[in-house]
Amino acid sequence: MPLFPDSFIQELTERTDLVELVSGYVPLTLKSGSYWGCCPFHSEKTASFHVLPDRQIYHCFGCKKGGGAINFIMEIENLGFQDAVRFLAQRAGLTVPETGDATMQQSRQRLLELNRDAARFFHETLRAPEGAAGAEYFRRRGLTAATIRHFGLGVAPDAWDSLLKAMTAKGYTKQELLDAGLAVRSKNGGLYDRFRNRVIFPIIDLRGGVIAFGGRVLDSSLPKYINTPDTLLFNKKRNLFALNFARKSKQGRLILTEGYMDTVSLHQAGFDCAVAMLGTGCTEYHAQLMARYTKEVVISGDTDGPGLAAVQRAIGVLEKTGLSVRVLRLPEGKDPDEFIRSNGPAAFQRLLDRAENHIEYRLLQIRGRHDLTLDEDRVAFLQEAAELIASLPSPVEREIYSARAAEAASVSPAAVENEVARTRKRMAKAEQQRRQRRDLNPASVLQPKDRSLRYDNLRSARAEEGVLRLLAMDPHLLEEAAGLRGDQFSSPLLGRIYERMAADIRAGRPFLPDLLAEELSSEEMDHLTTLLQQPEQPENRSQALEDCIEIITTEACKRAAPEDPDLLLRMQQRYREKKSYGGERK
Ligand code: GTP
Ligand code: MN
Repeated sequence: MPLFPDSFIQELTERTDLVELVSGYVPLTLKSGSYWGCCPFHSEKTASFHVLPDRQIYHCFGCKKGGGAINFIMEIENLGFQDAVRFLAQRAGLTVPETGDATMQQSRQRLLELNRDAARFFHETLRAPEGAAGAEYFRRRGLTAATIRHFGLGVAPDAWDSLLKAMTAKGYTKQELLDAGLAVRSKNGGLYDRFRNRVIFPIIDLRGGVIAFGGRVLDSSLPKYINTPDTLLFNKKRNLFALNFARKSKQGRLILTEGYMDTVSLHQAGFDCAVAMLGTGCTEYHAQLMARYTKEVVISGDTDGPGLAAVQRAIGVLEKTGLSVRVLRLPEGKDPDEFIRSNGPAAFQRLLDRAENHIEYRLLQIRGRHDLTLDEDRVAFLQEAAELIASLPSPVEREIYSARAAEAASVSPAAVENEVARTRKRMAKAEQQRRQRRDLNPASVLQPKDRSLRYDNLRSARAEEGVLRLLAMDPHLLEEAAGLRGDQFSSPLLGRIYERMAADIRAGRPFLPDLLAEELSSEEMDHLTTLLQQPEQPENRSQALEDCIEIITTEACKRAAPEDPDLLLRMQQRYREKKSYGGERK
């Protein structure tokens, strides 16, 4: 059951001018019927993002993101479907109807209130006798009262049910405590507090809601940290600790750390742009989230073995989002918290200013793997370095880093530059071969970007896309597609969209991608807009539709009865008849 009536979504979309909405985030210029600008979802210098006002969709040729007004707000404001609808409704001056499934929204609201009350409980316990150990712990780690207040830090008493008692006394149910991840069910069915005898770090989302907690032991027992598990409100892959503060920072970058304590410590020392991952590696969501607030991320990860590997992975993920990435080099075995505690903020600032961009960093990594006093190793080092340097698009950068590598290996810069040039030639040739292969096999170009949406039957899928495009352009054509059913589509996604489109048209509604914003995933929506924005200007739309339908039904038939060539013949016969009929009518 949909969360909002279609009529409401329709009114909302009609009252929202997509061009105007998007212009609030990206400057757009009108060029041949659509509005162009630089894509807000990936970093680029030339505009490949456009808004098509007549279809009320946006689409980026670069990163292939797309959708209607609702999706745009979901993506750019990092909101869920419901909140995006509320956001747009407020903007358009519409009252959001509370439908049957407002319960979901209500339970989210309840969990937020419960978390807020729990955070308050943990924070107040710091001043109570049962919180003395926690308060002492923070003091020992050098946190000031102001920092503790700023982050709303707290402590969970050393007992099985302190929070349970306090929260049920406030009227929260046991189920709600379970749903919030604050309570755990024991083997014998009873409940107990998840966080016990730990200092507490509340995790706050971008709208100021407490969505989860991290808790650290006071001694050296294990596990050192525990977090709220995934709940209705929280997913550790999609959230960053302290981003609620850091996004308002004026320091022009974000510092990505691995730990709560590192981030708290950095903020206390004046680096209010620090954020922490929550015990996961850096995900694509993290990268996109950060890219919304900054162009530069300085990674400050651990310097031990697994830490280094994590940094390498993070560099890759962040770079893909177009962020400029630098890596801070802390002395062996230190984390940012320890470094600041023993060397002070000014020393950290110096490290920050000197932080290597990721190329220097990687060069150093390669260098670290070789013993440059051995000729053999020097050759291997130079080859690996050339490989890295050759991948840089800028000739100036190539020259600079060639010189660096040359110096490290005590060879002439010209020798490295030659090696780089050779590598580039090899890479260009490989790329050309790849392109040729791709051109010979257009199938791969036509497939959806998202792997999970790959088409099984490309011939049919192209025709299915055609049907959707034609109907979006001219809803009256539906009459001519009367016999076509969604389950004949080879792509379940396109079939579903077709059914939905047909229902909308029959109900007299225009087809709006926004009506699908609730049920389609963001990847599915990207794909839908990618196919909708493609030009379709056949002379004869009826004929084009007819051709598409013939392909779809023939392919469906082959799938249904691969062993029955007669059936196939009968189908084709039927279509030839219909086609000539269609032709005569024209
Ligand atoms: P302190 O010892 O308090 O200074 O923490 P740290 O940040 O220096 O610790 P560490 O480098 O060990 O951990 C970094 C981050 O990894 C923490 O902030 C947690 O988010 C996460 N983490 C560490 N230990 C555990 C654990 O035992 N379980 C889980 N789930 N996460 C952990
Ligand atoms: Mn630490």
